[in-house]
Amino acid sequence: MTDSRIADLQASVPGLRLKTDPADLEHYGRDWTRRWTPAPLAIALPGSIEEVQSVVRWAKANAVAIVPSGGRTGLSGGAVAANGELVVSLERMNQVIGFDAIDRTLTVQAGIPLQLAQEAAREHGLQYPVDFAARGSCSIGGNIATNAGGTRVVRYGNTREWIAGLKLVIGDGELLDVGRSLVKNSSGYDLRHLAIASEGTLGIIVEATLKLTDPPPPTNVMLLALPSFDALMQVFDAFRARLQLQAFEFLTDRALHHVLAHGAQAPFAETHPFYVVTEFASDEASETEALAAFEQCMEAGLVSDGVISQSDAQAAQLWRLREGITESLARYVPYKNDVSVRLSAMPAFLAETQALLGDAYPQFDVVWFGHIGDGNLHINVLKPDDMVQAEFVADCDRVTRLLAERLHAHGGSISAEHGIGLVKKPYLSSTRSEVEIALMRGIKAVLDPAGIMNPGKLFD
Ligand code: FAD
Ligand code: MLT
Ligand code: ZN
Repeated sequence: MTDSRIADLQASVPGLRLKTDPADLEHYGRDWTRRWTPAPLAIALPGSIEEVQSVVRWAKANAVAIVPSGGRTGLSGGAVAANGELVVSLERMNQVIGFDAIDRTLTVQAGIPLQLAQEAAREHGLQYPVDFAARGSCSIGGNIATNAGGTRVVRYGNTREWIAGLKLVIGDGELLDVGRSLVKNSSGYDLRHLAIASEGTLGIIVEATLKLTDPPPPTNVMLLALPSFDALMQVFDAFRARLQLQAFEFLTDRALHHVLAHGAQAPFAETHPFYVVTEFASDEASETEALAAFEQCMEAGLVSDGVISQSDAQAAQLWRLREGITESLARYVPYKNDVSVRLSAMPAFLAETQALLGDAYPQFDVVWFGHIGDGNLHINVLKPDDMVQAEFVADCDRVTRLLAERLHAHGGSISAEHGIGLVKKPYLSSTRSEVEIALMRGIKAVLDPAGIMNPGKLFD
């Protein structure tokens, strides 16, 4: 049965590159969650929009589910293929298509890695400002499909802000060309935004036109040591009032412990409960303001130590302390929470969450870090070595349900930037109302009437 479908696909789309080796099925069937056993039907690697359309038409005619696949760095199980799906990988569609100096846009195939898009922008003296540690592996298509955030959101916003236009192959194989890179366009619904954060459930993004902006100024990176969680938002306020921040990220001592164990260099002689990594322009006026903010925080007892980068190498070292966390935790296959609340709700939410997790996990290693300047916390729970995986996940699911209740009370989100995928599907209703979920299902039914696009992700 399986073999005949693959042969039929190959015959229907001559020239389509297909992979069916067990090692390939395993490789392309999982993402960074590593919680599900990969079991795709096959991997299709189209080389053109027309091939993507043909594959989708074949899948619809044969009732085969498709999993759109980028760099599979996703942390929510969105790119997992565990039920005989056809993985459609965009990895061969990875080229820059065009640059427009007047519009300040870069048009790319959706499989291009984020880092290559950033470099292409730099070659033209401009910047594509979405940035995070997976830049070398994640794809622009995946970034759009998850509305990826990262470490520059506090200054530049999410991926959504930077998409001037895109092309999407929807569930019947039609090519939707949405967004004409117009600065102004009040001609009805903006369908571009349906594709952003759609997690592959409405179609396959095949091309995108990215907005570019001025390059960032030369910057300094500062690492601050903080005595308490309560100090975090006050320190953010003090720095934000004086400086245009390029980043404002936090990590706990447990996070630092794991990054150091993974080879990073200790920043201070002593350890502290919390740390902030912040970045701002390195001109004289900004440096003066940064020192003033630092002194103000020291005097108020909000900060206990600090270091400012003296070179690019030192700046990179300080960033490694924050950006290296995910890699350093990977061997534990952590249970990840990626939550957000409004900044105004953050102090109360932090206090409640700390109490909740303290009670729930007295024996577990719980690692906090994240984009505190965006109201976005990453709470990673590490499995004790002697605990069975299923028991661990069940325990974490139970606590996430309590966390979701707190988020609901504060009007927060169960997924700030990683997406819902499989991991957070049971908790979608903590963030979206019944009416919203019903409308989302209706939209999917219009764009993907046969229900072949990443079924079972985001909602059932
Ligand atoms: P994949 O994992 O391949 O797919 C993700 C989802 O998008 C799936 O639902 C998939 O079906 C869909 N998809 C992929 N390509 C397409 C396409 N062409 N058309 C339609 N749907 C598609 N995320 C953040 O937001 N901020 C961070 O700071 C951040 N840091 C990270 C650091 C590390 C070390 C790692 C491993 C991950 C990090 N992530 C972060 C998560 C991840 O990198 C992002 O979610 C990224 O956007 C996923 O891109 P991808 O190409 O790997 O997508
Ligand atoms: C990060 O901010 O480092 C990422 O979102 C990755 C993660 O949460 O592990
Ligand atoms: Zn993040």
